[in-house]
This record gives sequence, structure tokens and C-alpha cells, in this order.
Amino acid sequence: MKKTGIFYGSSTGVTAEVAEDIAKLLNVPAADIHDVAKSAPSDVEPYDLLVLGSSTWGAGDLQNDWYDFLDGLEALNLRDKQIAIFGCGDESMSDTFCGAVGIIYTSLQKTGARFIGSFDADGYEFDESPAFIDGVYVGLLLDQVNKEELTLSRLKGWTDKIKSEVK
Ligand SMILES: Cc1cc2nc3c(=O)[nH]c(=O)nc-3n(C[C@H](O)[C@H](O)[C@H](O)COP(=O)(O)O)c2cc1C
Repeated sequence: MKKTGIFYGSSTGVTAEVAEDIAKLLNVPAADIHDVAKSAPSDVEPYDLLVLGSSTWGAGDLQNDWYDFLDGLEALNLRDKQIAIFGCGDESMSDTFCGAVGIIYTSLQKTGARFIGSFDADGYEFDESPAFIDGVYVGLLLDQVNKEELTLSRLKGWTDKIKSEVK
């Protein structure tokens, strides 16, 4: 597996916990799990694969700590890196579900990174997600509020897909 860094933003700890679960499934050491609130964009430099996670707040908005971090990332050349995105949301907010995943994906297109880890799964009930772009969900969408029982199998499916897609 390529050198992997996990960067997450989390307001009430949900996405932070998921970041740890992903780390276990991808064999990422604790030192390579980063809270974006305490990180600088240049901290992504040592990694080949960036796993980026945000919950969604407001009405389809980024988790608060992501704003500055994403601004900084956008300005970097990430051409030699691969990016996989995950998000936590609440699918009863039925037209903004996991919007932050779509924002991160769209904002980082200009960096030249290669995106992996698009995902589709059964059991969702939302009407729309801003993370549905060009016919695919551009990352893993989780609902720890209403569908916690589906999270582990979704995480396993997604991390297996990452392992098969990473180059
Ligand atoms: C005020 C508020 C607004 C929210 N807005 C959205 C939203 O627009 N879309 C969504 O999918 N989830 C939304 N959520 C749900 C959170 O993303 C969800 O509770 C998430 O698990 C929080 O993760 P965190 O503790 O890592 O920040 C909202 C929650 C609150 C309390």
C-alpha cells in the first residue's frame, strides 16, 4: 500500500471516529491520521494517497475546519497524488446529503490529483446528494445518524475498492 495520510474535519467527533476505522482497515498508523483543524496544507506532502473526510453542516456545507485547509490544498500541485474522499451526513437532510464530499472533490480538480474511491451502495434513502457528480458518488457517503448499522459493511467495501484502485 502507498504511503497514506488521512485528513478529517469533525465537529462532534463522528467523522473523527470513522477516520480511525478507515485507518484500521487500510493499516494506516495513528501518526498519519490528521485533524485538519491542527494541520497545515503542506502536511499532505509526504503522502501518495490522501484520504480526505468531512462531515456536512449548514445546508450542504463543509465542516468548519475544512475552509482554510481546503483553500490551501487547492493552491498545491498534487499531480503525483491520489485522493479518496469520505463524508458523514444525515440523509434526512435529503437534498444536501454529504454535500461536503462534492465540494472537496470539485475544489481539488485543479490540483491535478487522481481521484479514486467513487462508491455506490444500497440502503440510502436521500433524494439528492451534491456528491453525485457525472453519474457517480465521488466518495463514500455515511450516515451515522440514521444508518449506523450499515457503516461497517460500507467501510469494508470502500476500503477494499481503494486497495484495488490505488496505483
Ligand atoms: C445544524 C446541522 C446541520 C447539518 N447539515 C447537514 C447537511 O446539510 N447535510 C448532511 O448530510 N448532514 C448534515 N448534518 C448532519 C451532520 O453532518 C452529522 O450529524 C455528522 O455525523 C456530524 O459529524 P461530525 O461530528 O464529524 O461533525 C447537519 C447537522 C446539524 C446539527
